[in-house]
Amino acid sequence: MHYSKIVGLGHHVPETVITNDYLSSIMDTNDAWITERTGIKERRYADPTKDTVANMAAKATRMALKRANLTEKDIDFIVFATITPDYFFPGSGVLLQRELGLESIGALDIRNACSGFIYALSVADQFIKTGMYKTILVVGAEMQSTAIDMTTRGRNTAVIFADGAGAAIVQPSDKPGILSTHLHSDGRFAEELYVRDPGSSRPREERQPEQILDTTHFKVVMNGNQVFKHAVVRFMEVINEALAANQLSKEQIDLLVPHQANLRISQYIQEKLALRDDQVYNNIMRYGNTTAASIPIAMSEAWAEGKIKENDLLCLAAFGSGFTWASALIRW
Ligand code: UT7
Repeated sequence: MHYSKIVGLGHHVPETVITNDYLSSIMDTNDAWITERTGIKERRYADPTKDTVANMAAKATRMALKRANLTEKDIDFIVFATITPDYFFPGSGVLLQRELGLESIGALDIRNACSGFIYALSVADQFIKTGMYKTILVVGAEMQSTAIDMTTRGRNTAVIFADGAGAAIVQPSDKPGILSTHLHSDGRFAEELYVRDPGSSRPREERQPEQILDTTHFKVVMNGNQVFKHAVVRFMEVINEALAANQLSKEQIDLLVPHQANLRISQYIQEKLALRDDQVYNNIMRYGNTTAASIPIAMSEAWAEGKIKENDLLCLAAFGSGFTWASALIRW
């Protein structure tokens, strides 16, 4: 039996810091509201004149490779999770492959929003276990700032979503590393959090550039209340599912790295699982919600801070657009 494990983690966040006060200067919001409802104090925005989703991912990848004592040439497959690809098509996986100077290795894009990284990790885990690949690069990267409605109308999403990239290198192991992954979706709620266009199911005339009358269809639309209510239930379900599948109990979790959706969601889960502060990693205060990038950025920082040690039991969990939700248990 082959097992798989994460051998390196890396991340990259853009330089530009966007504070709550800055957002308050361009829309009707304020630091007190944002802090109380989301826990976010600041976030990073990419510079689209020089940053791309793929080159942010490449920077995160190089950090992960360095920490794993590997080079680009060791990678034999890429799984790229993003809902903000550089192009409508092809996906950003191939652009990352080009950026890393690699020739002809496969690259797969995953579009499962906030659950995207765990979905991507699950794909890598299966490919390693079957022996198909030996070194898989799993990344989550997003440039969401360019799709946000930066007016008062879009304030419930503008204050939350932000940019960044995280990467993990997955290789075979002779003992269990990734213990299990659990993936779910419920498409009945697709429109509760979505960007409609450029959707293909439109009359041709509506897809002509000069006919795009309503640019709001290119912005993120979110029914925050509805997303929040489902998130807290699904997060708990999918964490308990992972623990039960491995005959483990919540007390045995050394570190929970939840998708950084909203600090209130993380705090609710922490309370329900009765975990101490040092058992839950949060960095949403500094980076906002970076969707598919949030878990690998958080893992990379937690590892660098010495909070992920050998033999630790790590739990990842996410919920987001789709709706999709997922979890993973990892023995480090
Ligand atoms: O990544 C995974 C997917 N996303 C999530 O998990 C996000 C889940 N949802 C949330 O985090 C929360 O629903 C939000 C933070 C988006 C909103 O918080 P809330 O406590 O659910 O607020 P609300 O939408 O119920 O709005 C409460 C009030 C409203 O005003 P009225 O109608 O009571 O007068 C909003 O218009 O707050 C208003 N509001 C704001 N006020 C200041 C909404 N956004 C803002 C804002 N600043 N940015």
